Amino acid sequence: MTRASAPGKIILFGEHAVVYGRPAIAVPVRQVRATAEVTDIRNADRGEVWIEAPNIKLSAWLHDLEPQHPIAFITKSTLDEIGARDFRALRIKITSTIPAATGLGSSAAVSVAVLRALSEHLDHPLDLNRQSQLAFEAEKIHHGTPSGIDNSVITYDRPLYFVRDHKMETFSTGSRMTFIIGDSGEPSNTADVVGSVRAAMAEDPSRYNAIFDEIEHICRQAREGIERGDYRKLGPLMDQNQSLLEKLDVSSPTLERLIHVARTNGALGAKLSGAGRGGNMIALIEPEMTGKVANAIQQAGATWTLTVEI
Ligand code: PMV
Repeated sequence: MTRASAPGKIILFGEHAVVYGRPAIAVPVRQVRATAEVTDIRNADRGEVWIEAPNIKLSAWLHDLEPQHPIAFITKSTLDEIGARDFRALRIKITSTIPAATGLGSSAAVSVAVLRALSEHLDHPLDLNRQSQLAFEAEKIHHGTPSGIDNSVITYDRPLYFVRDHKMETFSTGSRMTFIIGDSGEPSNTADVVGSVRAAMAEDPSRYNAIFDEIEHICRQAREGIERGDYRKLGPLMDQNQSLLEKLDVSSPTLERLIHVARTNGALGAKLSGAGRGGNMIALIEPEMTGKVANAIQQAGATWTLTVEI
């Protein structure tokens, strides 16, 4: 049996602007993971693949799934990539502790876990760059026009300063930072939200470009702050980024309630994370404030919280 996994992620700064060539900062979240296990199976024809993903109630032969089913797609593209045709029948079992549709990168993590387990099982491990590219192709099915940030941060499992179509930059953090993630309980549909920003951008490009430029400026300052270990500087930058995301109309009343409650209970700054209109918010906190802020956002309706040290 071969097992492989991949972490979740959060975007600290720059979501949406990153789709239009501006930088964004994302970090892996290792407490939650997608895992794939590949085993040989007997009594099935060579080259057949049985896929089980209990979280999404999927149990099917690969050949019975639509080619555009994201799990079928990543399985087939991995087999094509490594030129595997005549192999013993396989079972791929996929599990994940990453809440789906919340901006934590669950789709990219599932793709990376599957392609890793499958390619390693068939003795053709893929380098990280190729892994990320394959996962990017699968992300297009989920998200339409992804920037590539999710597959990159999840594959490389490092803090990233990401600009689409540029060489990826990992960077180090000058001091520990603590974030609380709070789930609004409302699903976030990345393709829909990205699509509506695109439509609004087409109507009024100069307004949207000006907002994206401001987000870029925030992102650059945030990177400096993170590298210098000046994490207190990040709180106000998160708040400014949130205001701009509200101007992009990708926030929601529930997210804003959780963000407000986090700030008034001592968070240094807070914003939504990911595509928005649902999904997660994140709050930067002093470590000793963890209990207070987590309780407050739970009381305010967060359906799930997680503390992340970076
Ligand atoms: O997958 P999510 O919900 O974390 O959204 C990704 C961030 C966006 O900038 C909104 C889209 C993208 O592809 O970068």
